[in-house]
Amino acid sequence: MSHRDLRVDVHLDADDIIAALRDDAAKGLASVPKQLPPKWFYDDVGSQLFDRITRLPEYYPTERERQILRDRAALIAEASGCDTLVELGAGTADKTRVLLDAMASRGQLTRYIPFDISEGTLRDTARRVGAEYDIDVHGVCGDFEHHLRHLPHEGQRMIAFLGGTIGNQRPAERKEFLTEIAALMDPGDCFLLGTDLVKDVGRLEAAYDDSQGVTADFNLNVLRVINRELGADFSLDAFEHLARFDTDEEWIEMHLRSKVDQQVMVADLGLEVAFGTGELMLTEISAKFRKEGVDSELAGAGLEMTHWLTDPRGDFALSLSRLRT
Ligand code: AVJ
Repeated sequence: MSHRDLRVDVHLDADDIIAALRDDAAKGLASVPKQLPPKWFYDDVGSQLFDRITRLPEYYPTERERQILRDRAALIAEASGCDTLVELGAGTADKTRVLLDAMASRGQLTRYIPFDISEGTLRDTARRVGAEYDIDVHGVCGDFEHHLRHLPHEGQRMIAFLGGTIGNQRPAERKEFLTEIAALMDPGDCFLLGTDLVKDVGRLEAAYDDSQGVTADFNLNVLRVINRELGADFSLDAFEHLARFDTDEEWIEMHLRSKVDQQVMVADLGLEVAFGTGELMLTEISAKFRKEGVDSELAGAGLEMTHWLTDPRGDFALSLSRLRT
């Protein structure tokens, strides 16, 4: 039994999540072109599919980021000077342990603050990390858009946002997000950001269109989620996965393409939606970055990059930044 503090604050529940899905589906299916936000991929099945994606030979980001963390965790821990790790989108805190280990071995680790939208996963992670490291754990269940302000100001915090998930946002949303992060940072806190980098288009597109079709299944999973949660009748066979790199925007776009002319009913929204043959519905963007871009986006939010760490091949980067003084 641990004598440390373990608490989890819950700022959104299952009803809030369904209400948000209804809004997103109603808006996204009525817009031209149609679109659905990528956060709805991640029910239990979708999270398992994403987990499989991270182990695919074509999907390099997870392994590269892990490699950077393994090689540079001691440097990051020391440069940060922090005793508290805040992790946005903590999930199972798999890669995080490398950072926790590095902080612990400097005798510097006091507290872990995981933030995640999934209450079940968050509680599991909080309990397990608390027991393994014998530290205080203060979990916060919420989503990035609404609940960042509930992050506790405890200790000197390193706020980590790993995986390249910031790439799911468009530049204007990133600006808002980074500005909010900067606003909640205290002097001494730092921000550790994972970004996937621009590279050969063939490798990028293969990472989002693997030969085993796991990414295709992951993409189609958003239709399963809407069928189950909103009583829709999407036929998964009537759509196909499409991933392409937009060289102007420097982001991957994932779409679902309707194979036929069809009508889809979304019962819980009282909505009938028409798809034409070949019509595309945008389900995700995944932006790829360059050092100058990350630097200037951080600067635009009042942050100053102090470290830029990449794997030897230059596929992925972790940046460390602080409030500009
Ligand atoms: C979890 C958002 C970082 O954009 O690479 C993987 C999600 N989508 N394959 C990414 C994803 C398709 C992933 N992120």
